[in-house]
Amino acid sequence: MIIALDGPAASGKGTLARQLAAHYGLRHLDTGLTYRAVAAALLARGLPLGDEEVAISVARHLDFGTLDKGLLSSHEIGEAASRIAVLGGLREELVLLQRQFAESGEGAVLDGRDIGTVVCPHATAKLFVTASPEARARRRTDELIGKGFEVDFDEILTDLKRRDERDTTRKDSPLKPAADAHLLDTTEMDIESAFNAAVDIIDSARKS
Ligand code: DC
Repeated sequence: MIIALDGPAASGKGTLARQLAAHYGLRHLDTGLTYRAVAAALLARGLPLGDEEVAISVARHLDFGTLDKGLLSSHEIGEAASRIAVLGGLREELVLLQRQFAESGEGAVLDGRDIGTVVCPHATAKLFVTASPEARARRRTDELIGKGFEVDFDEILTDLKRRDERDTTRKDSPLKPAADAHLLDTTEMDIESAFNAAVDIIDSARKS
């Protein structure tokens, strides 16, 4: 069983993916971390974010087992990840690694932007998780403050909208729901109701 969760930044898909993986006993890959890891390595070495060859060689040396969400969660790294995510050759490299993860073993939950459309088009269940930009900015602000970062709601909202624009309009694998994805709008939902709604969708997809 493969569960594909896509959606914009801070839509709640990451939390949902973790909970669903625990519920169904599946492994989980947050594919955003693979883009973040490449971006972080480029930033740390002072390398340009627009050089595809350099980004690809960094991606080839990436160890999926050691992706540290804590170290990669900063807002700056998220921005840089969104910028390098437009590089088509880099995407191909990361998609291969993500697919290997999805297809080895008994099943998996993957979350990202293009899981249902590109990485796992034959997933058992596909969810497209959304929420209003304001609700997402509020969650992201609270999350980052909780981690000790100093952030400002208005700045986060502006950046989220810019990131949405970049993620949805890029030429290669733009963020969009797969034709057969189930939409889950979590604007008015807490984590528990979003989880229950997702389980209902997945359980009926498994039966059909
Ligand atoms: O979900 P996130 O904030 O960790 O993702 C960071 C960036 O990585 C996001 O702005 C776009 C890119 N990304 C992508 O293009 N495709 C994915 N499957 C996951 C993330």
